Amino acid sequence: MAKIIVTGGCGYIGSHTIVDLLEHGYEVICIDNNSRSHATVLNAVEKITGKTVKHYKIDLCNYEDTCAVFEEHTDISGVIHFAAYKAVGESVEQPLLYFENNLISLINLLKCVDEFGVSHFVFSSSCTVYGNPDSIPVTEDTPIKKAESPYGSTKQISEQIIEDYAKNSAAEHILLRYFNPAGAHPSALMGELPLGKPQNLVPAITQTAIGKLEKLWVHGNDYPTRDGSCIRDYIHVCDLAHAHTLALRYLEQEKNEKSCEIFNLGTGNGNTVLEAIHAFEKTSGVALNYAIGPRRSGDVIAIYANNDRAQKVLGWQAKYSLEDIMSTAWKWEQELKAGQTVFN
Ligand code: WQD
Repeated sequence: MAKIIVTGGCGYIGSHTIVDLLEHGYEVICIDNNSRSHATVLNAVEKITGKTVKHYKIDLCNYEDTCAVFEEHTDISGVIHFAAYKAVGESVEQPLLYFENNLISLINLLKCVDEFGVSHFVFSSSCTVYGNPDSIPVTEDTPIKKAESPYGSTKQISEQIIEDYAKNSAAEHILLRYFNPAGAHPSALMGELPLGKPQNLVPAITQTAIGKLEKLWVHGNDYPTRDGSCIRDYIHVCDLAHAHTLALRYLEQEKNEKSCEIFNLGTGNGNTVLEAIHAFEKTSGVALNYAIGPRRSGDVIAIYANNDRAQKVLGWQAKYSLEDIMSTAWKWEQELKAGQTVFN
């Protein structure tokens, strides 16, 4: 059974990916300093899978502590690297915090991958690297434009570090460019847990619907789109999780042609903010209290994925719809309110 280190494994996408890996026969070690996550999510992982995950609460910016994990587990075949700060607004206010945390942790991890002969490295990247694309849908060959935030810059620089390192590394690498992750595990035992007021649309919708937020503000409806609000590619977190398992399997089967390959992970469908709101209202039966507010600086007007490569090369297929995203997110929000989760 291949043993995988998942960094940031207590986070939203990381924890859902651990569930998928365990369900597909992997053994998983989690590294997470819980600075932006809750270790209790691993209890939910155990409830869902019946399996336990060894957790190392260490900071990847500490090279010695990171090495110690690899020294203890000399049979690690792969690493999936999620751990990073990811709040666009915070990155604008504190760019050095983002560059230090996101880049030092990556470099330390790559040094360990090299030193301990790990074969496969999968990196959590983002469609943010495309900036405001000139044409959509974007393919993996769409030119990278100037990032709209320091967060986006850390993803662009991280990709460059991995691509340059891969040229002379014995390991094989995959960069996964996520579009907009959303939704929750169908069991409603885990889901998105924003710290403070949610920045992302779907948790802002469900928190408004449950009454935690008084109103949802739509950040602008005067964009050049079909209804004036921004277009995004919302992808269910479980679809995203399974893509990581398929990426590892692709590398294990040595099907990769290059030592660093890139895949877009989006559904290929673009929906506006107002369409997302209406999809929520339709699936939940709840009329949402929202109003049109000013544009949010840094917002991309429209982006969604050409996901042909992920489909053809990884054999990946998005199974969940926008309505599934809304219904699972809503069920999760209701569980949180009822105090029925491991986080309560
Ligand atoms: C989506 C749309 C908002 C909240 C960011 C990161 C990306 C990834 C996902 C980490 C936009 C609008 C939102 C609200 C709104 N993060 N909106 N009212 O900005 O596309 O992507 O999060 O990997 O890298 O850049 O996601 O959900 O914040 O916004 O109108 O209360 O919803 O303006 O048009 P975004 P988002």
